[in-house]
Amino acid sequence: MILAPSTTDLFAFGEEDLLGLAERRTSPFFAYDLGAARERFRRLRAALPGRVRLAYAVKSNPGLPLLETFSAEGAWFDCASAGEVSAVLAAGGTGPGMVFAGPAKSERDLQAALFAGARVQVDGIEDVERLHELHTGDRPLRVSVRVNPAGGVSEAATIIGGGGPSAFGVDEEEVDAFLAQAADSDRVRVTGLQVFAASNELDAGRLLANHRTAMRIGRRLHEEHGVELDLVDLGGGLGVRYDAAQPTLDVRALGAGLGRVLEENPWFTGELLLEPGRWLSAPTGVYCARVVRTKVSRGERFVMLEGGINHLLRPLMTGQSFPTLAVRPGFGVLDGTAVPTTLAGPLCTSLDRVGTGELPQDLRAGDVVVFGQAGAYAYTQAMTHFLSHPAPEQVWVG
Ligand SMILES: Cc1ncc(COP(=O)(O)O)c(C=O)c1O
Repeated sequence: MILAPSTTDLFAFGEEDLLGLAERRTSPFFAYDLGAARERFRRLRAALPGRVRLAYAVKSNPGLPLLETFSAEGAWFDCASAGEVSAVLAAGGTGPGMVFAGPAKSERDLQAALFAGARVQVDGIEDVERLHELHTGDRPLRVSVRVNPAGGVSEAATIIGGGGPSAFGVDEEEVDAFLAQAADSDRVRVTGLQVFAASNELDAGRLLANHRTAMRIGRRLHEEHGVELDLVDLGGGLGVRYDAAQPTLDVRALGAGLGRVLEENPWFTGELLLEPGRWLSAPTGVYCARVVRTKVSRGERFVMLEGGINHLLRPLMTGQSFPTLAVRPGFGVLDGTAVPTTLAGPLCTSLDRVGTGELPQDLRAGDVVVFGQAGAYAYTQAMTHFLSHPAPEQVWVG
């Protein structure tokens, strides 16, 4: 069976490659296609106006070969820890092309961001005060303030938090007080704004509505507080489908819409920044795990795999399954009658569920279940050490 063309964006590799990868390995593994990563970066870059920079959100997949691939394409990077800063520097990225965000930055994080020369996003007056102490340059340190909008944002499923109470940023209602306090520092100057409240959005119109909210806040900073914004960071949030029935995000519509947003805001002469993680990395990877056994328990069909939430935690956290298919080594993709299936892992807890889906009825021990869209929020988001099973192998192709 050849994989249906409608699923080629879900599984990174074609049937022959998936089979080859699965036949050569006996334990769970992730495989990534670097050519697909390069292609996605170029496609998104080409869809965006020149005044929109593109920073890859490292947290979605910090694998060095992936960072090197994006770095070679001229990407900026969005980092959130000292470790991510080091990884980006090792991959050839530089400080001026780096933003640094996080709701609870440690001393080590701030030192690393300053050492690299990254643009720090402050989440409150404490960040400004700490940077005031740490910054030793002759000129004031330019920072961006992250603002949690009071309204005007929507998020389909909670990942970042929409417009509600948030650990991130300064609440919009508190911005006046924040800016008044921040003005006390002669070593730190707010010249940027970051607004990011919604992730995995598949609708370009909804993303643009959120971006217009960011620009409304930016305009207020500019007109009421005289803030000369050189950067408005719109965060990530570009969605991918986890189900062939969902639509794909129209990035050309997003790019055209951002062009209009710039035209609507002539007061703003700086640059916009997008920080996509998922959209760039999810479709580049698959996770594969062998079936150990199958059973029916009180009418529910279970397939037990060699890997569980120690390798793939996202379905348990979000309630959303990765797309799946099954291959039989020496044979190919299984396309017989599919039945509702619960996928469980090897851990001794009934929390160890890696998704549900329709999988072939004749699935048996030794077959391999392939999880698509697993290039983002997968390998490093899992509970790797729980029960001391080995970490999965990571295979980089291309
Ligand atoms: C500050 C920041 N930027 C970018 C991203 C990437 O988001 P996404 O993967 O939805 O594009 C995240 C994700 O949590 C984030 O916290």
